[in-house]
Amino acid sequence: MNLMNSNNIILPKELIPYFRSNHAGETGAVYIYKAIIKFSKYKDIIKFSQLHLSTETKHLNLLENIIPKKDFSKLIGLWKFFGFVTGFIPSILGRNFIYATIYYVETFVEKHYQDQLNILDNSKQSKKLKKIIEELMKDEIDHKDDAKKKIKKFTILNKAWGQLITHGSNLAVNVSKRF
Ligand SMILES: [Fe+2]
Ligand SMILES: [Fe+2]
Repeated sequence: MNLMNSNNIILPKELIPYFRSNHAGETGAVYIYKAIIKFSKYKDIIKFSQLHLSTETKHLNLLENIIPKKDFSKLIGLWKFFGFVTGFIPSILGRNFIYATIYYVETFVEKHYQDQLNILDNSKQSKKLKKIIEELMKDEIDHKDDAKKKIKKFTILNKAWGQLITHGSNLAVNVSKRF
């Protein structure tokens, strides 16, 4: 991944809520993969998750360089906890559930980033931010596709779990935009 130097980025005030939610989300993503690595018993899934974890850690570090610390979500502990639970539950339910979780989470994140690309204008500063979001989004799409390749068929339970993930993630975005 070729992330740009983020030192000279100034985040406009009106975008802070969005970036706070991005930072919260990347924190959650790190903890999803941490939980899978800790609790899954499948070697291939652990390896797969380690690769994704290293990308999510880069995403998190990048955002930490852009967002002033005072503007981080006040609920970081909660996002870590929900991330961890989102990784732990499928880890005890089996292989397909884990890949389905990654698929649904990354599908959500892709849309979340696409929404932000849609609202950014063409000013110089917005272009820099767009570039960063595009880089993040490209990785999330790769993660989604990696998971999709591993899934032969989504069961009804996989889909129900996916719904829960999508609704939960939506709620988390709305809350983390504010707090
Ligand atoms: Fe990410
Ligand atoms: Fe991801």
